[in-house]
Amino acid sequence: MLEKDVEARGLWSSKFGFILAAAGSAIGLGNIWRFPYTTGQNGGGAFLVLYLICIILLGLPIMIAELAIGRHSRRDPVGAFEVIRPGSPWKLIGYMGVTTGICILSYYSVLAGYTVGYIGKSLAGNSTSYEAFTSNPLVSIPLFLAFIVITVLVVQGGVKNGIERWARILMPTLMVLLVILIIRSITLKGAGEGLAFYFKPDFSKVTGSTVLAALGQAFFSLSLGMGAMITYGSYLSKDDNLVASGCYVAFFDTLIAVMAGLLIFPAIFAMNMSPDEGPGLVFKVLPRIFGLIPGGRIVGAFFFILLSIAALTSTISLLEVVTSYLVDEKHWLRRKAVWIVAAVTFLLGLPAALSQEGMVPWLAKLPGLGTSFLGFMDWLFGNIMLGIGAVFIAIFTGWVWKKEISSKELREGFPGFDRIAPVLFFLLRFFCPVVILIVLFFIFKAGV
Ligand code: TRP
Repeated sequence: MLEKDVEARGLWSSKFGFILAAAGSAIGLGNIWRFPYTTGQNGGGAFLVLYLICIILLGLPIMIAELAIGRHSRRDPVGAFEVIRPGSPWKLIGYMGVTTGICILSYYSVLAGYTVGYIGKSLAGNSTSYEAFTSNPLVSIPLFLAFIVITVLVVQGGVKNGIERWARILMPTLMVLLVILIIRSITLKGAGEGLAFYFKPDFSKVTGSTVLAALGQAFFSLSLGMGAMITYGSYLSKDDNLVASGCYVAFFDTLIAVMAGLLIFPAIFAMNMSPDEGPGLVFKVLPRIFGLIPGGRIVGAFFFILLSIAALTSTISLLEVVTSYLVDEKHWLRRKAVWIVAAVTFLLGLPAALSQEGMVPWLAKLPGLGTSFLGFMDWLFGNIMLGIGAVFIAIFTGWVWKKEISSKELREGFPGFDRIAPVLFFLLRFFCPVVILIVLFFIFKAGV
């Protein structure tokens, strides 16, 4: 592609801009909602250790591979595989990614809608329970719709003005507020027990399903396995160091997840709640922490504003994957693409929005599966499909894409790449595919 076409398509304004946007994609409800409740359900400390191992040995290599595929091809996920292996079935991985993107976006926006609702709920000091709040369709559906519309408005603005500008202000603010809240949480009476649960691993509790959960959470949290990082990498400049950028993004994402745990677990134990509440955990615990802080309503509202924004920088990346496909491959106007995708997402998300206990019974408990429609979507698309996508991305980068070319791509912006190349290629060729395939096998054996 010519230099001027690359610019016209869009580039990040700086290395820092990319890191913020990619960290914005990675940091979201996955860190603050999904990570704590999954850790709570899987025994605490031991899960944390497994999660960190998954991030470093599986997440990082795949992240670097996705960024390299994206920057090399300068295309959306479907186009990227087509550029590197023209006419081959590899572009199916791209189609799978685009589909997974819309599906995750649909239920993720439902949850993001709750987060927005909690802004008003905190401010009003309204004490409705999580269950009652989320099972009211007159609340959840309009909020869900509003969230999609906001996402569309940002993505319509394109890469530089839309996505980057938002991430730049909001992500640092979130971090500061988290620190303040953590200080409150760990100084509660009885917090020590929570810290022990979180930091003292008890490996006797580790089972196959703990490993599955850790792996799925690592991919979900880093936004891997469906081409989001291929898309974001496609707007990176050749001066950027892909390995270092990937490490920064993974570091910030992990930091925020670990901080979210540090906020939630001491409070859970101090308040005699149970850590294995499931998906409602964070929505139930946080308001109680705010209740203990002077000006708690305002602090609470502010926290949910920031959480909504963290969710927004994630939904933006999900929508951007699908949009970039329609713009790059189908030559649609960006404006048309975003609105049509939004409409499809809304329809796909409706059953998830109606799947809380007390709404539509068979959606709240899918026949034969025993989980809600939202839970099922998260299991299928947020775990399995990301795992499958990641296996193929590892195999593609390790075995199919010519090593001289991928190495050349990785060397741009990182002249010392050859020193780490053997480790990276070993992980991509052998370690990632084998480990993820074993884990997927066990997921299928275990069921939903
Ligand atoms: N990583 C985000 C979070 O933790 C969610 C997300 C955004 C995502 N884009 C993604 C997950 C792409 C998987 C793939 O909340």
